[in-house]
Amino acid sequence: MLKYGVKRFDIINTCRLASTSTSIKNGPGLHHFIGEAQKTRQRKPKIFPLPNETNTYLNPEDFNGNGRTVKFLTYGCQMNVNDMEIVRSVLFQNGYIESSDEKTADIVLLMTCSIRESAEEKIWRKLNWLKSNSKHCTVGVLGCMAERIREGIIEKSKFVDLVAGPDAYRDLPRLLAATRFGQNAMNVQLSFEETYADIQPVRTDVATKSAYVSIMRGCDNMCTYCIVPFTRGKERSRPLESIIEEVKQLSAEGFKQIILLGQNVNSYRDTSQVTLLTSEKSSVAGFKTIYKPKSGGRTFATLLEKISDIDPEIRIRFTSPHPKDFPLPVINLIKERTNICNQLHLPAQSGDNQVLDAMGRGYTRELYLDLVEQIREIIPNVSLTSDFIAGFCGENDEAHQRTLDLIRQVGYFFCFVFPYSMREKTRAHRRLVDDVPEDIKQARSNELAAVFREVALKHNKRLIGTQQLVLVEGISKRSPDYMVGKADCGVKVIIPNVEIRSTVDNSFSKLQAGDYVAAKILSATSQTLAGNSIYRTTLASYHSV
Ligand code: SAH
Ligand code: SF4
Ligand code: F3S
Repeated sequence: MLKYGVKRFDIINTCRLASTSTSIKNGPGLHHFIGEAQKTRQRKPKIFPLPNETNTYLNPEDFNGNGRTVKFLTYGCQMNVNDMEIVRSVLFQNGYIESSDEKTADIVLLMTCSIRESAEEKIWRKLNWLKSNSKHCTVGVLGCMAERIREGIIEKSKFVDLVAGPDAYRDLPRLLAATRFGQNAMNVQLSFEETYADIQPVRTDVATKSAYVSIMRGCDNMCTYCIVPFTRGKERSRPLESIIEEVKQLSAEGFKQIILLGQNVNSYRDTSQVTLLTSEKSSVAGFKTIYKPKSGGRTFATLLEKISDIDPEIRIRFTSPHPKDFPLPVINLIKERTNICNQLHLPAQSGDNQVLDAMGRGYTRELYLDLVEQIREIIPNVSLTSDFIAGFCGENDEAHQRTLDLIRQVGYFFCFVFPYSMREKTRAHRRLVDDVPEDIKQARSNELAAVFREVALKHNKRLIGTQQLVLVEGISKRSPDYMVGKADCGVKVIIPNVEIRSTVDNSFSKLQAGDYVAAKILSATSQTLAGNSIYRTTLASYHSV
C-alpha cells in the first residue's frame, strides 16, 4: 500500500484551512501522490511533498506559524539536545512559539534516538500516549528514528503527520505548512554539507550557564554494531570560524561551560579554507580507520586551542572522542590549558581483542591501554570515562571477564554500560550472529556497571580532604539548602547554599549558577561528592595561585 503524502482527511479541520491563504483545492490530490509514488516504486521518496509541488499551493506566508504552539520533546544523546535547539531557532524565526504542555500544544515534535531497540520502544510508547491524550495536534518525529524508519513511522502509527531526519530541519516550516493542508510530510534526505553553521541555537537550559556546541555531524567510522552512520550520514566538520563566533557569543552572554559535540570530535577537520593545510596526523600509530585517513585542513587541536583562547573563564569539555584519533597535540593542550577540563571520555566498548575486532573499533586492548598510559604520563590527574557494550556477537565469558578487568585496570570515573542491541542495516546485523542470550547480556551489563561503581567510589573517596574548583550549575533538585555543580574531573559536587566570600572583591553573596567556588570535599559516593565551599573565585585566578 502506497501512502506517501496521502492526505489525512480525518485530521483536517476547517479552522486550520481558514487560516491558510490558499485553498486546498489548488493543491495536488491523492491521485497525484499515488502516481508520483508509483513512478518511484523502486526508490522510495525521501522527500514528500517535494518543494516544487508545495510551490503550487503554498505561499511564503503559509510557512509562518502565526503563533501556533509547539511542544518540544527530546530523547537520546546530547547531539539531539543541541539539534532541538536548532529546531527551536528555525521555528521561532518562522512565527512558532513554545508550549509547555503536550496535551494542548498545536504541534508536538519528538527528537528521537535509534541507538538501541529500547530507545525506539520508549518513543513508540510516547506516540501511543499522545494518540490517546492529545488527539488534535500535529505530531512530528525528528532525528535518528525518523531517518531510520522514515515513512514506516507514518504507516505504523497512523497518527504521525511529519517525519524529518537530522539534516532536514531547515525544511520544517515548509513541511509543517504542508501538514496544515491535511497532508503527511517527510524529509529524510541526508546531506554531505549541512552543519547548521549559520543557525544560532535557542538554548534550552540557559540557567545552568552551560551550552552544547556541535562542531561536526555524522560519522564515518562504521563500528559494526552502530546505527549512527546510517541515521546521521557522512561525517562533516562545521567551519571553524562559525564555531568561534558561537563561542564568542556564548562568552558575551555569560556562559561558563561549553561542551563540544560530535560523534568523533577528534577527527574534526575544517577543510573549508584550502590554503591552510597542515600535515598534522589525526591518528596515533597502530590505530586503524576503515576510511582513507583524513589530511589537510584545520584539526581538532587547532580548534580546541582557538576556543580555549576566547575566554579564560569558560570551561571546555568535549564528547565523544574516538581512541584512534588522539594525537599528542590534543593531550598536551589539555595539560597546558586551565580552561580545558582534565576529563576525557575514551569509549573502549570492550576489553577483549576478538570482540574489539568484531566491532571494527580499529584498536586492540593493548593499544588502548598504551594510549591511557600516554595520557596519564602527560596529565597524571586525568579523569577517564568510557562506554561499554555487554554481550556483543561472539562475546564469551572470558571476553566479558577481560572487559571487567579493563575497567579495573583503567579505573574509570564513570562508564555508560549498554546491553548489545542488534540494529538492522549495520555490519553486525549482516555478518555476525547475535548469539548472547538477552538475560546474559543484562547480567553482564549489570556486572560491568557494578564494577565501574566500585572503581569510581575508590576514586571519589580519594578526593575526600582535597580542594576542588566547582562550577556551580544551580540549586540542588533535592533541597534548596544545597547548590550543585561540577568539579574539573566532571563529578557532581553538592555544597551548602550559603553566603560566601569572593576573593575578587571580598564581598559576601549567595552562590549562583556560573560561579566558580573552591570547595573542600568531605564525603563521597560512587557518583557524587559533597563538600563545603571555602571561597568564590574565578577560573583564571584559582589557577594562578
Ligand atoms: N560516537 C560516540 C557515541 C555513539 S553512541 C562514540 O563512538 O563514542 C553511544 C554509545 O552507545 C556507544 O559508545 C556504544 O557504547 C553504545 N551503542 C552504540 N550502538 C549500540 C548498540 N547497537 N547496542 C548497544 N549499545 C550501543
Ligand atoms: Fe557509532 Fe562508532 Fe561512529 Fe561512535 S564512532 S557513532 S560508535 S560508528
Ligand atoms: Fe541516538 Fe542518534 Fe544520538 S541514534 S545516541 S540520537 S546520534
